[in-house]
This record gives sequence, C-alpha cells and structure tokens, in this order.
Amino acid sequence: MARWAYVNGRYVPHALAAVHVEDRGFQFADGVYEVVTVLDGRFADLEGHLARLHRSLAELRLPAPASNRVLVFVMGELVRRNGLRNGSVYMQVTRGVAPRDFRFPPAGTPPTLVMTTRSVQRFATPEQVEQGVSVITIPDIRWGRRDIKSVALLPQVLGKQRAADAGAFEAWMIDPDWTVTEGCSSNAWIVTGQGVLVTREPGMRILNGVTRLSLLRLAREGGIPVEERPFTVEEAYGAREAFLSSAGTFALPVTRIDGRTVGDGRPGPVATTLRAAYLADAARRSA
Ligand code: PDD
Repeated sequence: MARWAYVNGRYVPHALAAVHVEDRGFQFADGVYEVVTVLDGRFADLEGHLARLHRSLAELRLPAPASNRVLVFVMGELVRRNGLRNGSVYMQVTRGVAPRDFRFPPAGTPPTLVMTTRSVQRFATPEQVEQGVSVITIPDIRWGRRDIKSVALLPQVLGKQRAADAGAFEAWMIDPDWTVTEGCSSNAWIVTGQGVLVTREPGMRILNGVTRLSLLRLAREGGIPVEERPFTVEEAYGAREAFLSSAGTFALPVTRIDGRTVGDGRPGPVATTLRAAYLADAARRSA
C-alpha cells in the first residue's frame, strides 16, 4: 500500500515529502511536535495531545497552523490512506520558511505543518511487558523549558543512543540535585516501599506527559496513593517498583536501573494494573 505524508495542505507520497532548506525547523529547531498513538484504529488521548500542542505553540509564540477540526480531519485522513491500525501520527509545526535570521520572520509567514504516520505490529514485545525494561541514568543537560514539546531534541538523541549502547531501553535524566527529571522520551515513575506512586510534578523541568495525566487520573480513581514530587536516583534504586510512560509505551515496567534490580526484579502490580487500565480506558474513551 502506498504510504502518504501530509505537508502544508497536500497529501504527498512519503518518499517525496519534503520541506524547504530554509524551514525554521531545519535551521533553528524552531518548532513543536506531538505524537498521538493510534490504537486499534482510534486516537488515544487525542484531546490531551491537541491541548498540549496549542500550549507549546503559544509558549513559543508560534501561530496555530489550522483549527483542531482541520488537524483531526487530516490526522484521520492520513490514518485512512495509510491503512493504519496500530502505530502513531507524528505532527510537527514550525515557524515556516524565511531567510535565515534569528528574529521571527515577518508576521503572516505561514507556519509549516507536517504529518506522518508510523505503523507497528505491537507496541511492546511480550518480554518487555512481562520482564520489564532497563534504564540507565545520565545528566539532564537540557534547557530550562522542558515543558514545551519542542523539536530541539539533541540531548535526548544523545541520551537515547547512550541507552542503546548500554543495552538499555531508556535513559532517565538527572538534575544536579540528583533528582530524576524524566526519560528522554517518557515520564518516570516509582512506587515507594509504602506503596505510594511517585512521579515528578509538572513544571518547567519536565514535559507534562499526556499519558502521565491519564495514568494519574486512573491511579486516583483506583485508590492508589499518589505523590507528585521529585524523587532521587537513590530512591529509585530502592523503590518497590518503577515504570515509564509515554504515548505508545503506555505504562511500561522498569526492572533495572543502572544495572541494579528494582524491587524483586519483576514488573510490579501498580505498573501492571495501570498499563491494563490505560489500554481499557483508551479503548473506551475513543469509542
Ligand atoms: N515523547 N517526556 C519527554 C521528554 C517526552 O519526549 C515524552 C514523549 C514524554 C511522554 O509524553 P506523552 O505521554 O505525552 O507521550 C515525556 C514522544 C513519545 C516522542 O518524542 O516520540
């Protein structure tokens, strides 16, 4: 089946999809993005992703490329054309094309809007779900506005490669005070010895994950005690459970941190319950 992408108002064959060399996204990483999971042909947490897109756009004083109605239509059309059942839609908005100048281009310069899809056979392997994944820790060398889903991802690119080189699934980034901020492309969670679910509070030091927000809601609905606060690497080493979350990983158990076993080395009940609850909830809400 032909694979389509969407570029500035047109559906184009994926292999030919391109933006201009002076696109501000290419020149300055002057843009934002979203990744929306497609689960059994339906969007998971769509409203949350659209809300965060508009927040990111506003924080960078980027114009919205289209109304939500149009964005959702294009997303749906791309999913349909590409015959996507499971995978994701990637959406990127940049400040458009203009001669290279750090200052904003003239008002009225149209933003660039690009969408692509990616198909997966499954979101995680049975081993990842049943045995958990490993993470390493690395210094968080990012800028001060991690709450904005900007396409400037060089620290995460380097971090993910370090994780891959170490045979790990993800790298958890550490602030100078030894607290865990988040993963390179996921939020970080632990369950304390007292059974309290802990994840860092939203603010400028992390991206407020859309999956994170749904998991917090589900945890509270399920009566799981929750604390939104920073936790240290030491606390994570000694946690009863750990897991990570993002669009597409949902809640994925973490059973090794820097080579140390977390808890009893098996995925814990909180992570396992929340993963199942998320998948059920996403299916119900998008129905
Ligand atoms: N990344 N933290 C960071 C730094 C992220 O890049 C992501 C998502 C998350 C989780 O956010 P959400 O639950 O809304 O997906 C947290 C996406 C998946 C990516 O860059 O591909």
